[in-house]
Amino acid sequence: ARHLALIPAAGVGARMEVQMPKQYMALAGKPMLRHALDTFAAHTRIDHIYIVVSAEDAYIDEIMAAAPALQGRVTVLRAGGPTRQESVRNGLLAITAAQDAEADDWILVHDAARPGLNAALIDRLLDELQDDPVGGLLALPLVDTIKRSNQGRSQLTVPRADLWAAQTPQMFRSALLLRAFTQAAAQLDAITDDASAIEMLGLQPKLVAGSPRNFKVTLAHDAALAEFFLKGNE
Ligand code: C5P
Repeated sequence: ARHLALIPAAGVGARMEVQMPKQYMALAGKPMLRHALDTFAAHTRIDHIYIVVSAEDAYIDEIMAAAPALQGRVTVLRAGGPTRQESVRNGLLAITAAQDAEADDWILVHDAARPGLNAALIDRLLDELQDDPVGGLLALPLVDTIKRSNQGRSQLTVPRADLWAAQTPQMFRSALLLRAFTQAAAQLDAITDDASAIEMLGLQPKLVAGSPRNFKVTLAHDAALAEFFLKGNE
């Protein structure tokens, strides 16, 4: 089975308060998207990479033209939807409609907004899941004490021992992932990652230890932190 990366990059970055979609903001010398893209492209166990952008995306062509090493390794799908989940589903549909993926090929769905992915994390995910019947995701045990809010007052403290924060990549066989997204179609608005769709089938994705550096750049100050780590990696 092959390993195919699928990067949803069709967001608008509403929470960043910037004009340009956040996945294209410059971070440690290149557009944010290029960090995860280059990590996948340089990884010998990744067979191909698909990026999902919006139909009207004005940046991706220039980014691809500036990276000749990515040519032939990456396919851009102008198939973005209004939410991350719809972008992932549209990407999956495009890949399977083109018969680019066998049923047992692994799809690694990874947020463009997680530039801190590295080769060791990809290896860990692939190694831990290679014989797994379900698939799984990178995730981290929670460190904060978690409160359930009731109109701004702390109603209760949620025991955190069993709580993990989901990261990406999230890795599932293409046929299973497509079945999960098809089944979850009516509830796509209610889910925020790929593993949730698998859970709705009654399956339990494996939690594989991620890294704090693989956080999602969401708010304005996250960019400075990401840059700090990315520069240290070079
Ligand atoms: O907005 P958020 O940070 O949760 O987005 C996670 C990932 O999903 C980002 O890489 C973003 O570009 C992508 N996304 C997408 N299509 C959308 C919204 C988000 O591909 N409509």
